[in-house]
Amino acid sequence: MPLFNVYPLYDVTPVKAKGIYVYDDNKTEYLDLYGGHGVISIGHGHPKYVEAVSKQVSRLGFYSNAIQNPLQKKLASKLEEVSGCKDYQLFLCNSGAEANENALKLASFKTEKPRVIAFSNSFHGRTSAAVAATDNKNIIAPINAQQKVTFLDLNDIDAVKTELEKGDVCAVIVEFIQGVGGLDQADATFYEQVDALCKANNTMFIADEIQCGYGRSGKFFAYQYYNVTPDIISIAKGMGNGFPMGGILIHPSIEAKFGMLGTTFGGNHLACAAGLSVLEVIVEQNLLENANEISCYFLKIAKTIPQIKKIKGKGLMLGLEFDFEVGDLRKKLIYDYHIFTGGAMNKKLLRILPPLTVRKDHINHFFEALVDALEA
Ligand SMILES: Cc1ncc(COP(=O)(O)O)c(C=O)c1O
Repeated sequence: MPLFNVYPLYDVTPVKAKGIYVYDDNKTEYLDLYGGHGVISIGHGHPKYVEAVSKQVSRLGFYSNAIQNPLQKKLASKLEEVSGCKDYQLFLCNSGAEANENALKLASFKTEKPRVIAFSNSFHGRTSAAVAATDNKNIIAPINAQQKVTFLDLNDIDAVKTELEKGDVCAVIVEFIQGVGGLDQADATFYEQVDALCKANNTMFIADEIQCGYGRSGKFFAYQYYNVTPDIISIAKGMGNGFPMGGILIHPSIEAKFGMLGTTFGGNHLACAAGLSVLEVIVEQNLLENANEISCYFLKIAKTIPQIKKIKGKGLMLGLEFDFEVGDLRKKLIYDYHIFTGGAMNKKLLRILPPLTVRKDHINHFFEALVDALEA
């Protein structure tokens, strides 16, 4: 049976990974500055993570959400402690799209309103409401078009005000650093005014922290750079370091009702063990501090390279913009220099999403290769 051919693939077959490195079936070592699309937070095959997941699967990998699962409570309190999100409630699911789907649904349940405000160049996932709030017509099927979503430009606060005052908007959803779109951010005053407008108009402010969260921005959540209080925060990617898991943090003002949200696999024992070990390693290895230190080091070198026209992002969610499309450069970095990097909707942007354990020598290795590739 052939695979449904939806991914253009690089001709590399990883069979092993450790720390910042991935190894293919020819034993070639690749420097991973992409983290499997921002997923690998604490490094490939971290010993603590491997031990936690292995022990848990040999004890109890899964049982349904109809029984007590103390690991979920343990994960929730650790997340509260590490994120600083006091008194939020946690709902666990399996992916980023599912997290946003639940976030949007919950916003609509809470406000009893149907319409969503999202932003130009946003990416929120591929399920029904999430994809409708994604600014890419190519991935929206007719069945998704029934969702009521209005796209506005970042920083256009007048448009946000006009739309929210119509009274039918359940949620404003925003990536505080856009991922797939290409690392754009709005001004601090814009985010803070949106937050205030949401509070004034009974609209839920949803922070999509699926890519920019979990320490990637240099703070636990990217929204924490601003004076805002999201009603719902969606998480996934770095949360499980490769184990598929997602979730939403829900403000205490939103009350749960039995049956309101649900999932078979979300929050299973194995996922919780993976998620707990990720949070423990983030704390024990001071990974937020490392993200900030390595980010400064990266930016300092990037600024010395004349072909780089613009540097975008924060922490270890970085983008290098050139005045040419970077498709060939990415291929060259993979095949000639054995370095994984990412692309974006902005075709001139090279995306850097390394594990948060990345070191200065890895960054030196990358820039030596980049300069060589640019001059070749
Ligand atoms: C900001 C953001 N939201 C949502 C998603 C969707 O996550 P998933 O692919 O796990 O469904 C992504 C994935 O790239 C993302 O970057």
